[in-house]
Amino acid sequence: MTVGHIVLIGLMGSGKTTVGRKLASTIGRRFVDTDEEVERRTGRTVRDIFESDGEPAFRLIEHRTLADTLASTEPLVVAAAGGAVLRDDSRALLGEPHRIVWLKAEPETLIDRVGRRRDHRPLLDDDPDRRLRQLWTERDPIYRSLADTTIDVTGKSVDGVCAEIAEVLT
Ligand code: S3P
Repeated sequence: MTVGHIVLIGLMGSGKTTVGRKLASTIGRRFVDTDEEVERRTGRTVRDIFESDGEPAFRLIEHRTLADTLASTEPLVVAAAGGAVLRDDSRALLGEPHRIVWLKAEPETLIDRVGRRRDHRPLLDDDPDRRLRQLWTERDPIYRSLADTTIDVTGKSVDGVCAEIAEVLT
């Protein structure tokens, strides 16, 4: 049986983890964050995998983690890490029967939000402002093409974003 999960996508700093956790508890589902799941499965940090094995190796582990998570028969809320949309085979997983919710934000908002939380974000080690703007340009069309629901998170609280998602999806 294929179960439909709620999958949050979007760039680093868009609030996928915070919103996902809150949404899951509000609607009574279990929450899975793919970065946390990668770390749990490998016993290593995202940063260590990136730095020791390289980004393609990380993307493969991330893909397998996403695939296994979405194969769960228990309906979940899933925060898919920002780059989990980059592989073709990962994108192929992100569609029906799942609800794909894009937390959309302008680069200025993302830059503000990731300021202090960069441990698991090695891509932002050098010049995070420029890098986030670049990722925004590269990935905006990808998130747009995958999303069945888009929530603009600019200026909204976690509770506000959750309420908006819950209203659209339930
Ligand atoms: C990445 C996003 C991060 C983490 C890694 C790479 C990306 O997750 O997987 O640093 O390429 O966008 P979050 O989106 O949860 O910050």
